[in-house]
Amino acid sequence: MQRRAINAAITGWGKCLPPAVLTNADLTTILDTTDEWITTRTGIRERRISHVPLGDMAHVAAARALACAGLEGKDIDLIVFGTCSHDDQVPNMASGVQLRIGAHAAAAMDVNTACTSFLYGLSSAAGMIRSGVVRNALVIGAELISPFMDWRDRNVAVLFGDGAAAVVLQASDRDEGVLAEKLGCYADAREMLRVHGMGGRYANQGTLYGVTRWQFEGQEIFKRAVHGMSAACESVLTTLGVTAEGVDLVVPHQANLRIIEAVAKRMRVPMERVFVNVQRYGNMSAATVPVALCEAVEEGRVAPGALLLLPGFGGGLSYCAHAVRWGERVTPLGTSSLELPPTDRTALELIRDVSARKTRAASSTVM
Ligand code: ACO
Repeated sequence: MQRRAINAAITGWGKCLPPAVLTNADLTTILDTTDEWITTRTGIRERRISHVPLGDMAHVAAARALACAGLEGKDIDLIVFGTCSHDDQVPNMASGVQLRIGAHAAAAMDVNTACTSFLYGLSSAAGMIRSGVVRNALVIGAELISPFMDWRDRNVAVLFGDGAAAVVLQASDRDEGVLAEKLGCYADAREMLRVHGMGGRYANQGTLYGVTRWQFEGQEIFKRAVHGMSAACESVLTTLGVTAEGVDLVVPHQANLRIIEAVAKRMRVPMERVFVNVQRYGNMSAATVPVALCEAVEEGRVAPGALLLLPGFGGGLSYCAHAVRWGERVTPLGTSSLELPPTDRTALELIRDVSARKTRAASSTVM
């Protein structure tokens, strides 16, 4: 008997952005930088700083995505949590969401490829749906960068922000969902982006986990990002047998407006067909693509049946691109009332707290 091909369709989407806004003007009060430098070099105007742990943001995003799909936690067979800024390594982040949404029968795993973690997670979940292992999956991209940021380093502190988003993937026999993908990694360039103090190896060097220093070769990462994302997009389009003309909307990783423009130029896709929200949130690493996807749908930029292209790159240096055929529905089936707890802390107060904790930790470290 011939089995019908199973596709993995996106049927739910939800985001969670913490309320505290850190503007470029705020950054000029703690760093030797200007709004003009940040805006012209990156396109970023503001970013969010979280007052809650990563798992709380992910829980809200997951609840919203589930409600959007008209599902409950018990309907979910698999949770994939993409992040590099875990609250905990053990137990994993996905099991925390599983418990909170009541997905008792689900498998739960984390994926870490830095900024591409959501997209790598999308492939993992889509692959398990296509092979019939699971039918309903929740894929999360969430990141809490602010505690791991070196707030004294203007080269990186202006670039990143916190946030979370999730999608529900469901088995479908229609021609929709994740249609093609290309994943890769320039391992020879892995030292171009290293966060010292985010792993156990630094304990031997007298660094406490979380007391971070960023090794970040911006210009080289820029070149590899453009190359990797463009090549992955070409590969995906070739697999599908379509040209860039056939792509309705590109929803790329949002690290830097100039990188996005360079990829669009190489792909010969006009910027009108590229979704950009980097100005509002900066680089939220794994959260950027799913947050951008949510906002593209909310803003009416995704028509029923639209062909989307999702290119990404991140530490590793990993890169990828996914082609997604959107389904017929562009509105949520339901909404969730779950919210983050309110805060009266400003973004600057939150990062001052983090910086003070790091300084105390560093000064109490025994070499
Ligand atoms: N404010 C003011 N001046 C600054 C700042 C700042 N925030 N940061 C750097 N500068 C200075 C530099 O010191 C340098 O000064 P100098 O010429 O006196 O030495 C000058 O600005 C130019 O610096 P460049 O590094 O040449 O600036 P560039 O135009 O390359 O832009 C940037 C830097 C924005 C980092 C860019 O290279 C970039 O976006 N790279 C991609 C990085 C990225 O997005 N990575 C994401 C991956 S992260 C992940 O996967 C987890």
